[in-house]
Amino acid sequence: MTLTELAAHVAAEFQKKYGRPPRWIVAAPGRVNVIGEHTDYNDGFVLPMAIERYAIMAADVSAVPGKISIHDTQFAETATIDISAPVAKGTPKWSNYIRGVIAGFQNRGVKIPALDVAMNSTVPIGGGLSSSAALEVCTATLVETATGKAIDPVEKALLAQTAEHEFAGVPCGIMDQFISALGREGSLLLLDCRSRKTELVPMDDPSVALLIVNTNVKHELSGGEYAARRAECEAAAKILGVASLRDANFEMLEPAKNKMSEVVYRRAWHVIGEIARTVDAAKNIRASDWIGAGKLMYASHNSLRDDYEVSCDELDAVVEIAESIGNKGGIYGCRMTGGGFGGCAVALVKTENVEDITKKIAADYKTKTGIEATIFVSRPAAGATVIKG
Ligand code: GLA
Repeated sequence: MTLTELAAHVAAEFQKKYGRPPRWIVAAPGRVNVIGEHTDYNDGFVLPMAIERYAIMAADVSAVPGKISIHDTQFAETATIDISAPVAKGTPKWSNYIRGVIAGFQNRGVKIPALDVAMNSTVPIGGGLSSSAALEVCTATLVETATGKAIDPVEKALLAQTAEHEFAGVPCGIMDQFISALGREGSLLLLDCRSRKTELVPMDDPSVALLIVNTNVKHELSGGEYAARRAECEAAAKILGVASLRDANFEMLEPAKNKMSEVVYRRAWHVIGEIARTVDAAKNIRASDWIGAGKLMYASHNSLRDDYEVSCDELDAVVEIAESIGNKGGIYGCRMTGGGFGGCAVALVKTENVEDITKKIAADYKTKTGIEATIFVSRPAAGATVIKG
């Protein structure tokens, strides 16, 4: 579904539920990270792009004071949030992403009107494509539109990140909310997570495409494992005497090897290498050096699998299939993307081979794992947008 079709759909759902057309329609995209994994909370670089999958909300001021009603049209479930007092965690579970953002605006002293909302999302849930960041940034965009007060997009991303920390309990970095708020059509975003400066890296050559392969597996461990990785990185930085692993390099790491556990050493090894790979991959992409960028993607995957230990058999299977197809079959590189433990892989491919590659990956993945993958191409999309406002 295109964004225009999705907007028409959610407007019709709003009309059905509330008996009038919506006054506002806003959307925010999910993302795929091309390279730079588990580097954002180490003050490093990431290179994500917004994808053509969105959380979308149609809304109007409500006649019921002090309440926001959100109807999820996909699962036919309605959440009611009391905004007459400071918003706290509540049910249903998905409403916490929305609650967290509303609480963030309340903390900034913003007076939020009572709202009727219909929402939908085409970002696969739990697929590692940041469905939660899309929902958070979409909510923030709705509040901005309904109050007529836009905030700085960087502040907006940070507000959404705080919602994820405090209302979803995930100590995530800044990448997902950032790209959902600041993505640009036709470009990847090279984000320096320390200075929060961004650089657009054009990715509009029609001869190459990014293929997203959803393994359709989600390993439930991910929450605790994520926090554990973050703590291991902090431990490594402390031993090395630096503020974060962004300030470390391999020359510093080697002599400190006997001062840290083998696991902490390997975590630091991954992060130091991955930060460098991300900067190099951005250079390769700018120069249309697809082979060079692809090699870095494979190297990233190997490091995430062996040293950072956040891959899983199904993600490894996709990358092995991609390697077997190789440059000859039109695949330059492939890697797991996002937090890991399931979710999606991303492959840099020749556009002319997309159909053959899709068939081959789907068939081989089914043979290897018994699972049906979901495979699609996305062009770099724009970040949060007001469609009607
Ligand atoms: C999740 C987090 C991000 C980032 C990635 C790993 O998507 O939300 O902040 O840390 O994992 O790169």
